[in-house]
Amino acid sequence: MMNLHTMPRTFYMTRHGQSEYNVLGKIGGDSGLSQNGLEYARRLARFAKEVIATKTIIGEDGKVEKVPVPARLWTSTLKRTIETSQFIEHDHIMTETESGDMVKWIQFRPNARRNLDELYAGVCDGMSYKEIEEAFPEEFASRQDDKLAYRYPKGESYMDVTLRLEPLANDLERTREPLLLIGHQGIIRLLYAYFMGLTRQEAPYVKIPLNHVIILRPHAYGCHEETVCLMPKEEMFCDGQDEPITSMPIKTRDISSTDLNAPSC
Ligand code: F6P
Repeated sequence: MMNLHTMPRTFYMTRHGQSEYNVLGKIGGDSGLSQNGLEYARRLARFAKEVIATKTIIGEDGKVEKVPVPARLWTSTLKRTIETSQFIEHDHIMTETESGDMVKWIQFRPNARRNLDELYAGVCDGMSYKEIEEAFPEEFASRQDDKLAYRYPKGESYMDVTLRLEPLANDLERTREPLLLIGHQGIIRLLYAYFMGLTRQEAPYVKIPLNHVIILRPHAYGCHEETVCLMPKEEMFCDGQDEPITSMPIKTRDISSTDLNAPSC
């Protein structure tokens, strides 16, 4: 599949703004955004309008001009990603098709996709990692042992999510316009690993911090990556992301992959 990345295009991927569950250290659920999350949503809307949906051109008179470009938006069906998209403007613009016709385009038309929903933690949904460790010590240990293959009771594994993301990856391959994808930690880890050519084993440990936009530009032999921080940690009232198991066990870590993790600011 990597060899199919031949057309120049840009994907902007971000987690939802901080949710009420993030603040409480709980996983999953369908909570809304915290005050910090709402602030991130406002900043993301500005970024969407000024960066994603705008290009700078030099006019005939030599003047620098900013013009709109058609842009897409995908969210999951969960409240926290939809709320993160709520301040994004849906301007109507005219755009030229490949056959030269001018058509109307709605910027960032809402598109909520179920296969972008976060990895489902089954019986552990809505619990903190500490509560899981206390209530289900064997489950907790199994996940630490093999995070990729581990399936929560009545829930999903990263391998399961990889399968449900396959059709979405095909749609991504076909997307020409700049795309803003507002998703979840587990989901963006897998998409990031796919484009960056990481192994499946590495994927569940990639750091995808809140409040960052990861910009991916796939090309024929790889993918260019850039990360933009829209809201530094110091500006956050409560981060809520100090989870106990977010890094790959030392014994299996591939040193060469560590510098591929998104930097936090
Ligand atoms: O904590 C936020 C979250 O998106 C949870 O909803 C989800 O279960 C978790 O991250 C996935 O990360 P990990 O696989 O490291 O537990």
